[in-house]
Parts: sequence; C-alpha cells; structure tokens
Amino acid sequence: MKKTVVLYGSSTGNTKAIAQKIGLDLNCEVYDVSDSPVREIELADLLILGTSTWGFGDLQEDWDAFLGSLTKMNLTGKTIALFGLGDSSTYSDTFVDGMGIIYRALLEKGCKFIGKVDRSNYSFDSSEAEIDGELVGLALDEDSESQKTGARLDEWLKAIKLDIEG
Ligand SMILES: Cc1cc2nc3c(=O)[nH]c(=O)nc-3n(C[C@H](O)[C@H](O)[C@H](O)COP(=O)(O)O)c2cc1C
Repeated sequence: MKKTVVLYGSSTGNTKAIAQKIGLDLNCEVYDVSDSPVREIELADLLILGTSTWGFGDLQEDWDAFLGSLTKMNLTGKTIALFGLGDSSTYSDTFVDGMGIIYRALLEKGCKFIGKVDRSNYSFDSSEAEIDGELVGLALDEDSESQKTGARLDEWLKAIKLDIEG
C-alpha cells in the first residue's frame, strides 16, 4: 500500500473540490500547495498533483509560487499522478496547460508518472499537457463539460487504485 497525498492549487475552488473528492475516495490527506506541505511530500510514495490554468496557459498562482520548491526536493522513486482543471471551449489553445507545466518541470526528477489519459475523449485545439496523443494526467472541464466530470474521474481513479494497491 502506497502512502498517498493529494496536493492542489486552486483560485476559485474547482480544483480544490476535485482534490477533496479524490482524497475521500482514496482515503488520503489533501493539502493546499499554498501551505507548502514539504514534510508531507517527503513522506509520501504517491503524489497526486492538481492544478488549474489561468491567463492564457499560465500555471495557477499558488503552484507558480511552489513549483520551484518542489523541483528542488529529492523526489527520486516517487510516483506522480496529475490532474488539471481547465476550459476546453473558451481556452481551446491552452487547455489545461498548467498540468503540462508541472509535468515538464518534474520530468527529470526520477519519478514514475501514472494516470495518463487518451486525448481522443476531449475536444480542444492545443495543450501543453498533450504528448503523443495522450494527456499527461486527468483533464477536467467544469466550465464547459461538467456533465463528463463524474465518469472521467471515476475511470481515472480506478486506474490510480490499481497502482496504489499493486
Ligand atoms: C481569466 C481566466 C483565464 C483562464 N485561462 C485558462 C487557460 O488558459 N486554459 C484553460 O484550460 N483554462 C483556463 N481557464 C479556466 C479555469 O482553469 C477553470 O475555470 C478552472 O476550473 C478553475 O479552477 P480553480 O477554481 O481551481 O482555479 C481560465 C479561466 C479564467 C476565468
């Protein structure tokens, strides 16, 4: 059983609400990155990292402040799952870019990434979070496709649980 924590940055509460659902479902602690939960990160095996995207493709502001600290930590051997909140209709060119920014910042840190999803279930033009037809984590759109959130989250959590229990 892997020690799991959920970390989120959220400006209007959407990412926070999803983080709390994930925490309930996986029975694990949930932290706001603006509280700099460094010790909790050090103790965890699986980090579930959630962010929204602001401006045009900008990382959520609390994540923007914290990501530099996270990349300085020793994360070797940890498993990482990402989720991102965005708006695929209004921000179709920068959909969930924030999730891609976190992924790229952690790419060389010796972590294993899980929870990638097929891009074909989404409709957007461009995303920093897309690599070779996959999104680097779960993308959710509470602005334009909130009716799809429940099923997307359930399916993703099933895959994550396989890894935690395995
Ligand atoms: C001013 C503004 C800029 C935004 N820019 C983007 C963007 O570039 N890409 C994207 O996917 N979503 C964008 N969004 C949508 C937010 O990421 C989305 O509403 C998200 O659910 C907010 O989550 P939060 O409340 O956890 O911060 C933007 C929203 C606003 C209001």
